Amino acid sequence: MAFIERKNSPGVRSRRSFLGTSFAASLGGALLRRNVSEGMEIEELPPGVVPSNPRELLYPTPEPNSKIFSKESGSFAASYPLLQNVSETSASISWALNTPSTGWVEWGRTPALGKIARHSEFGLNPYEENFLSAQIFGLEANTEYFYRTATCSFSYQTAYQKTISEPQYSEIFSFKTMGANRDHGSFAVMNDTHNQKEIVRAHCKRHNELNPDVVVWNGDLCHRYFFPLIAKTAIANPCDEPFAARRPLLFVPGNHDKRGPYAHVLKECLTPWRQPDPNFRTLGYNAAFRNGPIAMITLDTGETGPDSEEESGIYDFEPYRALQTAWLEKTLSRPDIASAPYIVVFCHVPIFNTNGKKDTPPTPPLKWSAYSNLCAPFWGPVFEKHRITLLVAAHIHRFTYFEATPERPWPQITGGGPLPANAAGIHAEADNERLTVTAERLEDGSVLGSWNYKPRV
Ligand SMILES: [Fe+2]
Ligand SMILES: [Fe+2]
Repeated sequence: MAFIERKNSPGVRSRRSFLGTSFAASLGGALLRRNVSEGMEIEELPPGVVPSNPRELLYPTPEPNSKIFSKESGSFAASYPLLQNVSETSASISWALNTPSTGWVEWGRTPALGKIARHSEFGLNPYEENFLSAQIFGLEANTEYFYRTATCSFSYQTAYQKTISEPQYSEIFSFKTMGANRDHGSFAVMNDTHNQKEIVRAHCKRHNELNPDVVVWNGDLCHRYFFPLIAKTAIANPCDEPFAARRPLLFVPGNHDKRGPYAHVLKECLTPWRQPDPNFRTLGYNAAFRNGPIAMITLDTGETGPDSEEESGIYDFEPYRALQTAWLEKTLSRPDIASAPYIVVFCHVPIFNTNGKKDTPPTPPLKWSAYSNLCAPFWGPVFEKHRITLLVAAHIHRFTYFEATPERPWPQITGGGPLPANAAGIHAEADNERLTVTAERLEDGSVLGSWNYKPRV
């Protein structure tokens, strides 16, 4: 398997290497050898490092098997565009690269396009090795727009000699902005795909049938992030089809999306949400918008354990969660959100403990917990105060549904997992009469459950 090298943080890498090697010597070696002998690809860990947790061997890295975007094809791009964060007034677009490139997005109200968006910073146009992106602002709600990406390979020979190619363009795609003044809204959810392209493909096939307004990818997209290749293959191009070029993608981070050197710059691929309020500028994955009668809100639960449990000191989730709590309170009070017939909140780690009193604190080295006891005391009361309709979570790798109770007046649903036996999708449709949410087994399409909710206002 060929990997693209990246300059990693030596401190983080060496610590993980040490933990992984020492633990594997006692526990993981036999499992590793067995999987290698069965022809299973091991993940893209640094040389000599064995996964510290045998469970991780369940989630091998997919091969970069794109036919359309192979390097041999001559394509500078390594994926179709990923349309993300479509709000009432803005959108962002990213795409993977085969070669160091510069580029831009051409867009407009008609296929004639006419406008350009480019991620220029401090006087320099973009030059990237892995992903290019651009944000479009000033859009009108409930309006169709057209766009295409332009990619030029670019190389520096010396400070004075540079080579730029002619642009390669994507085909022209269209999308519709969000907005409150619509009688109908819909969404679909996939989660915990853990770089299993077959599972992502099955979700995308179902999404093509359902054609929801937006697809929420509710965390643990990959198992860990040691090289940008994982994002290029498992996130940007899992299907060799434009699965997120017309239908907006909304990324909700999972605990696994925080692991590995490349997790620190995942924003290259999955572009952050733009916060208009300067108090919340540092929040990148907290979205809030109206999709017709549905107000859609996303939260980032982060890792499942307290920051102090991570001995390397690399985690700083506690102030991040506190800032999100302030953002959530303020956002749910926004007139356009407070007046929504339905409020659906998405986060990766469940807020309600589905294991009842059986849940135990995370135990090293697994550091896994079935719910976020770090977020629950803060976010649960805010959900109750603002009467959210539903919390959509993930993380436990199985479908569950818990009705609202007098003590917890918001229901919680969790999606499925990364293996065919437990993979499940969630989809929802709403008009001004009801919101209908349905969960399905991915393998055979059987309905796991369907629920109707009345408007909250
Ligand atoms: Fe997961
Ligand atoms: Fe998770």
